[in-house]
Amino acid sequence: MNYRFIPRYIKDIVPYPPGKPIEEVERELGIKNSVKIASNENPLGTSPLAIQAIKKTLKKLNRYPDGSAFYLKNKLSATHGIPTESIVIGNGSNELIELIIRTFIQAGDEAIISDPSFLIYSITVKASGGKSIIIKLMDDYSYDIKGILRAINKRTRLIFISNPNNPTGTILKKKDYDLLIKSIPEHVIVVDDAAYREFVVSKEYPDGIGYIKKKVKNLIVLRTFSKLYGLAGLRIGYGITTPELADYIERVRQPFNVNSLAQVAALAALDDRQFVRRTLDNNKAGLDYLYRMLDKINIHFIPTQANFFLVKVSPYMTARQAFESLLMKGVIVRDMTSYGLADYIRINVGKPAENRKFIMEFRKILTGRL
Ligand SMILES: Cc1ncc(COP(=O)(O)O)c(C=O)c1O
Repeated sequence: MNYRFIPRYIKDIVPYPPGKPIEEVERELGIKNSVKIASNENPLGTSPLAIQAIKKTLKKLNRYPDGSAFYLKNKLSATHGIPTESIVIGNGSNELIELIIRTFIQAGDEAIISDPSFLIYSITVKASGGKSIIIKLMDDYSYDIKGILRAINKRTRLIFISNPNNPTGTILKKKDYDLLIKSIPEHVIVVDDAAYREFVVSKEYPDGIGYIKKKVKNLIVLRTFSKLYGLAGLRIGYGITTPELADYIERVRQPFNVNSLAQVAALAALDDRQFVRRTLDNNKAGLDYLYRMLDKINIHFIPTQANFFLVKVSPYMTARQAFESLLMKGVIVRDMTSYGLADYIRINVGKPAENRKFIMEFRKILTGRL
């Protein structure tokens, strides 16, 4: 069947490359205890306070979730010092990306997206009949702010900034953020996707929520519980913007988009200072170790402000070959070919033993190719 009624823009979408379940990979390859450092997840597991809260809520699953996320919004409001009306809760920040695009983009409207950046932006813009205007990152992987500003026209509705950027781990610095916010016309909204914000150590990182507090009218900041709090499997994130924009996004949202376990887990996780501390310490120590070891074997990498980074595997091999060779040794990394980076793999910081295993196996593979 030709399914001629399916719009061309849907047929043209290149699907997001799915990964196989880790158990299936292990079964197929006959390996055990593999190490997954491919999806920028929290290697330490989930916030213990979140797990306690989930256990308590298991007996209440006959009830629909709280469609207004009352307690979570109140807590986030107090945490960030912004009104509850400024907050939208999503089924992961991915859902917020989708809700924002559905709210603000009609067929023919444009979104400015940098490349390489998070693939979901352009897939979702395409799925809504919009057009992605792609602006390449600069040679040092920073955002081309002047290029982004030049690309704005009267069809532009959204500018996506992943900050830190997935997959490069680089940030849009405060000076450029200021310029962007100052220069955009009223009909354009900046989406500051700050999924990895908590891992940033740079003093030049701009605090998006601070701009909203200073009454910037066309900015949405996205945050997630997936990374720092280890809740990726439950799907919960939030957006912060003006009450007016939040109200429009809320109209598009399904009432029960965020399940009860995710809501109680997120609420508890916000108090889990110990888990947050352990996660950030592990990230810092892991990055120090990985950088040091990669330097030692003369492998180029892009220093990051997040919990993941790009490792250049050429001229020794392609990203595909690195991915496959590491997989055979039980180390799952991300092949960046689908991002247009066929020379790079992306790894996230694991537990110390996982980082050591990656380095050991990667070294062996390299030695075999020299
Ligand atoms: C830049 C960026 N934004 C958003 C997300 C999605 O996060 P969530 O799990 O909250 O949907 C990711 C996940 O990898 C990401 O890398």
